[in-house]
Amino acid sequence: MNIVFVSSEAAPFAKTGGLADVCSALPATLQQLGHQVSVFLPAYRQIYDAGIPIETTGMGYCVPVGTREVWGEILKSTLPGSEVPVYFVRHDRYFFREGLYNSNGVDYQDNCERFIFFCRSVFRAIELLNIPVEILHANDWQTGLVPAYLATLYQNGRALGNRTELFGAELYPPQEAQPNRFWNKVRSVFTIHNMRHQGRFMQQEMELTGIDWKYFTFDKMEFYGQLNLLKTGITFADAITTVSPEYAKEIQTDDFGESLQGVLRYRSEAISGILNGIDTAEWNPETDPALAAAYNTETVFEKKPLNKAALQRECGLPESADTPLLGVVSRFDWQKGLDLVADVIPHFVESRGAQFVILGTGDPELERRFTELAARYPNNVAALIKFNSALSHQVEAGLDIFLMPSRYEPCGLNQMYSQRYGTLPLVRHTGGLADTVVGASDETIANRTANGFMSHWGTSDDLQKTVDWAIHCYDHRKEDWRQMILTAMKIDHSWRKSAGLYADLYERIQMLG
Ligand code: ADP
Ligand code: GLC
Repeated sequence: MNIVFVSSEAAPFAKTGGLADVCSALPATLQQLGHQVSVFLPAYRQIYDAGIPIETTGMGYCVPVGTREVWGEILKSTLPGSEVPVYFVRHDRYFFREGLYNSNGVDYQDNCERFIFFCRSVFRAIELLNIPVEILHANDWQTGLVPAYLATLYQNGRALGNRTELFGAELYPPQEAQPNRFWNKVRSVFTIHNMRHQGRFMQQEMELTGIDWKYFTFDKMEFYGQLNLLKTGITFADAITTVSPEYAKEIQTDDFGESLQGVLRYRSEAISGILNGIDTAEWNPETDPALAAAYNTETVFEKKPLNKAALQRECGLPESADTPLLGVVSRFDWQKGLDLVADVIPHFVESRGAQFVILGTGDPELERRFTELAARYPNNVAALIKFNSALSHQVEAGLDIFLMPSRYEPCGLNQMYSQRYGTLPLVRHTGGLADTVVGASDETIANRTANGFMSHWGTSDDLQKTVDWAIHCYDHRKEDWRQMILTAMKIDHSWRKSAGLYADLYERIQMLG
């Protein structure tokens, strides 16, 4: 099939979180399965830092943004390790900035306009570059307008809303005739990676979308008087997916629906949960160039300790093979429950001399708390307040226990990276964490299915109890610990199975009338 992915992030060009990993690994796997796939991204400043050649296509165009015509250009590159073409929508005033969505924690004021321009440009570029398309696969609020444009301006195979129709042929003669494209056969998929980030804007921004105000209603684009782009994607898409089966259920409840549970329940039949995979080439302890010592299931007990020692050295912590080393790689965000980690650190440092490595950036209050803990316990806590991919691999390989007590987690990738690196994840029972981790209990240890630790309640007390149990196993149940490491490392987290599920879904919606 011909699939066009539209996303605001794709690794290694632009990344703030797991969305980027998914939007490069999934297209690459679909291509391996025999599909034709291309990816659209904004041409952020960051794309030029990935060290991958980016060319111009020589294609310039204009799209309407409100009453203005905005100029854009399409650049092109390829996803590394694949043949998947990546098209970048260039307009430097919108995208050549310090951050992707914000700078110094403050959202860009024109985010709505930036992504309106991006989504409109995708349609224009597909027409101008003649990119084959049967499925438009959009991701998260930044691309919520893609299903909406397909269902409104581009319905019936006519590219409406171009400059001719908006301004009249005399004033703005069309650059070229619109070929009667196959938009009416194209279907849309909208994947929700996170319900909490919805792209809510003042209702005046509706004007900029070029979509008729008649769609500004509670069952389409309006949300308590505002324009809501996540809701827009949900209401217009032919199929909706989210990134784990458990999260697909959760978001239809009051606790996790972030006020859109009603809309989601209304579209329940169109929703499915497909578990993310991981890029098993990038995250392979046997070939990972960032590691001090490569390893596999045969050599893990000999070589993993070398990575632990290297990480302790790198972080300025005393080298000690028998000290439990726990840690985090994460965005510092309420979602991740890291305040609970900060709460319990003193207890484990003082009672067991445990060590902690925390890699991440985000919420200034959390950055401050972890920095303070590192200053208070210099031999036990290292706070690495930065975003660094090589280091994230070293942390995954060096830790004994990876902490991920998320309040909610649509899928989560780090628990899977941890398992593959023989580092046992300690997670909260929610979303994709519940789908990927089997918590250690006497029963799951005995039947050899345990591959991590499970906390249930999302409180500091509960986290402390679960970490206590994990450290108890580390200290006193060494054989079981080794077995859990092997069970975790042997899980197949590759994208193949999930990519196959997406391909099945594409085929099903192609058959829709
Ligand atoms: P989310 O997308 O909610 O942030 P995921 O677990 O799905 O959570 O994905 C997070 C991704 O971002 C992983 O690839 C993780 O390694 C990466 N990441 C997060 N923080 C950092 C950091 N400080 N340095 C390097 N990589 C990071
Ligand atoms: C989001 C979610 C995370 C998920 C990622 C990729 O950022 O927070 O759980 O793994 O998207 O789908």
